[in-house]
Amino acid sequence: MILTSCSTCLLIQAKASFKPKPISMATFNFLHFLTITTLIAIVTTVTITAIVTTTATTPAVTTAAAAIKGAYWFEQEIFPASAINSSLFTHIFYAFLIPNYTTYTLQISNSESQSLSKFINTLRTKNPPLKTLISIGGGGSNPNLFAEIVATRAARAALIKSTISVVRRFGFDGVDLDWEFPKTDEQMSNLGILLREWRHAIDVDSKISGKPPLLLTAAVYFADNFFLSATQRRYPVASINSNLDFVNIMSYDFYGSGNNSTGAPAALFDPKSNINVVSGIILWIRAGLDPKKVVMGLPLYGRKWMLRDHNVNGLGAPAIGVTGFDGTKAFVQIEKFNKEMNATVVYDMDTVSVYSYSNTSWIGYDDPFTVRIKIGFAQALGLRGYFFWAVGYDSDIITRQASKAWILYERH
Ligand SMILES: *[C@@H]1O[C@H](CO)[C@@H](O)[C@H](O)[C@H]1NC(C)=O
Ligand SMILES: *[C@@H]1O[C@H](CO)[C@@H](O)[C@H](O)[C@H]1NC(C)=O
Ligand SMILES: *[C@@H]1O[C@H](CO)[C@@H](O)[C@H](O)[C@H]1NC(C)=O
Ligand SMILES: *[C@@H]1O[C@H](CO)[C@@H](O)[C@H](O)[C@H]1NC(C)=O
Ligand SMILES: *[C@@H]1O[C@H](CO)[C@@H](O)[C@H](O)[C@H]1NC(C)=O
Ligand SMILES: *[C@@H]1O[C@H](CO)[C@@H](O)[C@H](O)[C@H]1NC(C)=O
Repeated sequence: MILTSCSTCLLIQAKASFKPKPISMATFNFLHFLTITTLIAIVTTVTITAIVTTTATTPAVTTAAAAIKGAYWFEQEIFPASAINSSLFTHIFYAFLIPNYTTYTLQISNSESQSLSKFINTLRTKNPPLKTLISIGGGGSNPNLFAEIVATRAARAALIKSTISVVRRFGFDGVDLDWEFPKTDEQMSNLGILLREWRHAIDVDSKISGKPPLLLTAAVYFADNFFLSATQRRYPVASINSNLDFVNIMSYDFYGSGNNSTGAPAALFDPKSNINVVSGIILWIRAGLDPKKVVMGLPLYGRKWMLRDHNVNGLGAPAIGVTGFDGTKAFVQIEKFNKEMNATVVYDMDTVSVYSYSNTSWIGYDDPFTVRIKIGFAQALGLRGYFFWAVGYDSDIITRQASKAWILYERH
């Protein structure tokens, strides 16, 4: 996830060198014929089978944990913090603060200080109240900075001390790490050490201050152990599981600038590969992440391509490339495009995605319908909740649908 123009950073450097075996999803061709309610019943059966094999390594599920309905927010004139409808969310992530490159601490400038204060003061008056977290890093920050920080005890301590102090000073409820992405097994293992030390410092802070412990979360890649790049590496799942309150899985950006053909940017399934939301989440859970710590990422944006031939316009159609820098289009822009261009809108139920096209313009995205199905699956898988990148990219039609769907399918 990124601030402005590079949400496919991860795809730019990626290469198609590693294709783990796909999880069979053939059954889902039948989705066309099912109502959503029936769908959830079937999905529960299918996914339980997938999860059963993991119970040996999965910690006991805590059923009491309240659902997470999260969203990242960043400063935009058209969407100030006051525009956030707090009845649709439980947690808002302030994106982003980046540590100083030499001190590894957060050095808050005057303008950042004003922005943080304004954000927190605005959200404090919201009813119902929201939990707030400061997110560190982001897709636009330099991943090597974090590699340096995690490598030494002194640098880790500087970051930890500084983040806790800033979060307390401004009155946030927690801190979120968004390192996109650790590149080697050594960096992954150091990340595990950082999280353990961070958790320890948060416990100490809580004892000394007498306040509830801060939340500690992270945004991570869509799968724990395979990457769309040459170097494979594995997240430190045991440390993540024991030290984080929950984990935002970035289940999106599957197709973008690196691709010469159209593709669903955040397919729930894919009959042809395991580059999809459910396969990634199942990998995380099989590796030992408690489903009750898994928060499914939902993009409020799509990706626009220019087709080679306007008559060949399905998923996988040859494309000249994405439009603009990386093809990112916010949902409100997609709605506008569909209306103004009289675009044809197609639901692809094999992938649970939607695309629209007009002449040679083609956009793959999620809409209220596909998000509703994804939320049904998140609940059938026993996940903790969902989060959006980023609030303000829809008029609230999707975020409202999501919030409603979660309540509808909540199992008691
Ligand atoms: C899309 O691009 C990514 C990154 O370059 C690659 O891993 C993937 O295999 C490509 N998919 C297709 C269908 O070309
Ligand atoms: C916020 O969302 C709730 C639930 O959908 C809705 O009832 C309310 O009208 C919304 N408030 C605003 C200001 O849009
Ligand atoms: C980072 O910290 C160093 C040492 O305090 C300072 O000289 C430098 O200006 C800081 N960099 C930024 C971008 O604030
Ligand atoms: C995409 O097409 C261009 C032009 O034909 C080519 O140079 C490039 O290598 C292709 N990229 C991929 C990932 O296939
Ligand atoms: C879309 O359809 C409307 C009504 O049929 C028409 O007035 C308009 O010119 C069309 N726009 C485009 C871009 O085709
Ligand atoms: C369709 O797109 C092509 C190439 O982008 C353009 O030359 C053509 O005029 C467009 N046709 C219409 C009807 O807009």
